[in-house]
Amino acid sequence: MENMCKNYVIAIDGEAGTGKSGLAKSIAEKYNLVYMDTGAMYRCVTLNMIWNNISLDDEEKISKLLDNIKIDMEKEEGEDKFFLNGVEVTKQIREKQVNDLVSQVSHIPIVRERMVELQRKLAKGKKIVMEGRDIGTNVFPNAQVKIYLTASAPERARRRYEQNKKKGIDIPYDEILKNVMFRDNNDKTSSVAPLKKADDAFELDTTNYSIEEVENIVVSKIRERVALDD
Ligand code: DC
Repeated sequence: MENMCKNYVIAIDGEAGTGKSGLAKSIAEKYNLVYMDTGAMYRCVTLNMIWNNISLDDEEKISKLLDNIKIDMEKEEGEDKFFLNGVEVTKQIREKQVNDLVSQVSHIPIVRERMVELQRKLAKGKKIVMEGRDIGTNVFPNAQVKIYLTASAPERARRRYEQNKKKGIDIPYDEILKNVMFRDNNDKTSSVAPLKKADDAFELDTTNYSIEEVENIVVSKIRERVALDD
């Protein structure tokens, strides 16, 4: 087994709504690892652009915004809270105006460049579970463990709908499905870091598995590569 005691990166990538966040969070909590939700970072950049009325092609303003952006994640009462330049934005970054724009924002080269830089910096010296789209292919191509999750589009939309409902966010199912399909297409056809499985990633179609089943399969895969604290 590699990397028994060293720091390591567990990369969990995949399409929107495959259960990456819940899985990564749960594994991080159980095995005492740092959790990083990189999608939330792109969401914070998007919200900041909305707040400042910056258009997608205004590279100069986007660059300035990135120079001054501060994104923090803190655990409060067992819940992950996100702060954008000191303001709590946990709920706002999941709302429609951000959903509609985030895929496009995440394809702006300078945004990707800076976020990837930040992600690498934040992971230094840690045992970390990093969840996103390009972690295994681009951010950490040498990650010790790479997992790639998929699920059918209607199932993913259904999961996101339930997730939103629990958080008190009211978006109709049809709209979510449309958004999921739009984002898939955008994410996979992008010329900048398109969503794809790393050659050496373990791929799991989660459509017909429960959350617990997915976690069990993934944890046993992780254990083949690195040591987890029990
Ligand atoms: O996982 P999510 O839905 O919160 O991600 C929001 C958007 O950010 C999604 O359109 C894909 C993009 N993203 C990305 O391009 N790279 C990542 N590492 C994470 C997310």
